[in-house]
Amino acid sequence: MLIFKLYLTCGKKMTDSQGEVTPLELYEKLNVQGEKVRSLKTAKAEKAEIDTAVQLLLKLKTDYKHLTGQDYKAGCPPPENVVNQDNGSATDGIDEEDNVDPWNVSTSNAKGVDYDKLIVRFGSSKIEKELVDRIEKVTGQKPHRFLRRGIFFSHRDMHQVLDAYEKNKSFYLYTGRGPSSEAMHVGHLIPFIFTKWLQDVFDIPLVIQLTDDEKYLWKDLTIEECHRFAVENAKDIIACGFDVNKTFIFSDFDYMGSSPEFYRNVVKIQKHVTYNQVKGIFGFTDSDCIGKISFPAIQAAPSFSNSFPQIFGGRRDIQCLIPCAIDQDPYFRMTRDVAPRIGYPKPALLHSSFFPALQGAQTKMSASDANSSIFLTDTPKQIKNKVNKHAFSGGKDTVEEHRKFGGNPDVDVSFMYLTFFLDDDEQLEKIKQDYSSGALLTGELKKILIETLQPMIAQHQERRKQVTEETVKQFMTPRPLNFKL
Ligand code: TYM
Repeated sequence: MLIFKLYLTCGKKMTDSQGEVTPLELYEKLNVQGEKVRSLKTAKAEKAEIDTAVQLLLKLKTDYKHLTGQDYKAGCPPPENVVNQDNGSATDGIDEEDNVDPWNVSTSNAKGVDYDKLIVRFGSSKIEKELVDRIEKVTGQKPHRFLRRGIFFSHRDMHQVLDAYEKNKSFYLYTGRGPSSEAMHVGHLIPFIFTKWLQDVFDIPLVIQLTDDEKYLWKDLTIEECHRFAVENAKDIIACGFDVNKTFIFSDFDYMGSSPEFYRNVVKIQKHVTYNQVKGIFGFTDSDCIGKISFPAIQAAPSFSNSFPQIFGGRRDIQCLIPCAIDQDPYFRMTRDVAPRIGYPKPALLHSSFFPALQGAQTKMSASDANSSIFLTDTPKQIKNKVNKHAFSGGKDTVEEHRKFGGNPDVDVSFMYLTFFLDDDEQLEKIKQDYSSGALLTGELKKILIETLQPMIAQHQERRKQVTEETVKQFMTPRPLNFKL
């Protein structure tokens, strides 16, 4: 990252670690770098070379935004007197705007978190169209709408997973849930819906960790409550349609004590990560209990195949792929850092963006605020009322203005929700056009959303009703799974 020490005089000059640079010079650097990326892609250069060039381009864009307060646009040089605020390093600027960690997600931007910046900050790779096309080619299936629409937008090592898969070297999936309450919300479904699709199209085993221990450590709940929520949440997860022959769901409280191999991996990880490192990654302080400080090792352990001897025998070399929203990435940055030091492959990741709160994309949907969320237990009436009352609208104040100027789908929560759940690309595009032109009113858009969500949640509730205690027990019993690696 270029670290700019700003001594901006009249917005004209600033210094970076390599000397003085003006906004115009930075703009020109961006033009050159953009051209470089395009020509590398046209020449079908090595993937690593393209990735490096794209990363640099994104960094320059971030720095440009920070320094000029504007987005870089090819063909639009910065104005002569661009004025900037001296507010420290480029990364400081990002931190002020977007706050993303496993416990908090917030941004000041009505369009939501700037995911391109987050890719740069977290050092992951963007899911480009090329990768989506490759997944389609390898699986022979139309990519899931979450991939087609960039909802899963970032990855780590996904090309490597596909390289191996093409050579008949398979992999397993790992995802999870922190059971902090009985009812999950629609946002929690995103990684599970996508994981189910991945399980189907790749035909691979899956492990799902329920971190009831994490919730006990972080929340004001008893061990018994957290364990009960784990079992209740397992029912919602099972209702997503996972194959019982290929899926193992476990509560940490149950599995940690019964699997010596799992616990050995936890301790191995604990031995190779220092307090300083977890403080740096998770922001722990001296007054956090030691349970929190050592917990990341427990979320890391399922990334290694020999934590599950009943599934993978003693094999330690099977690659793991983790689908999750990007808030969980800090755990897996730590895991990837420690993996080679304890002789295991690094897990690969697919990151999703956040399903926003009803009030707007400044925060993610969160179970702790009932009005921000549509819960999987909500009735059709509750869904209708919540959407009508709370869903932030990108429409204009009056019907006349709306008809004249149109609405803004980029900040409209109802439209955002439809991008997650309306599968028909053409219908979605038409809604976008009509809303932007003013032909479709906010009330009409909300009605489309309500009519999409109500049957979706009702069907989920129906499937959940079919999940018996016996089914839960089957999924949660350590056992061999049925797959070919
Ligand atoms: P938890 O319970 O906070 O979230 C469960 C999963 O849902 C994702 N998620 C969201 N995705 C989209 N939009 C939202 N608004 C939203 N809110 C939550 C989370 O990223 C997560 O994938 N510590 C974890 C449990 C866990 C885990 C894992 C998660 C253990 N091992 C491996 C992912 C992968 C937790 O508390 O998740």
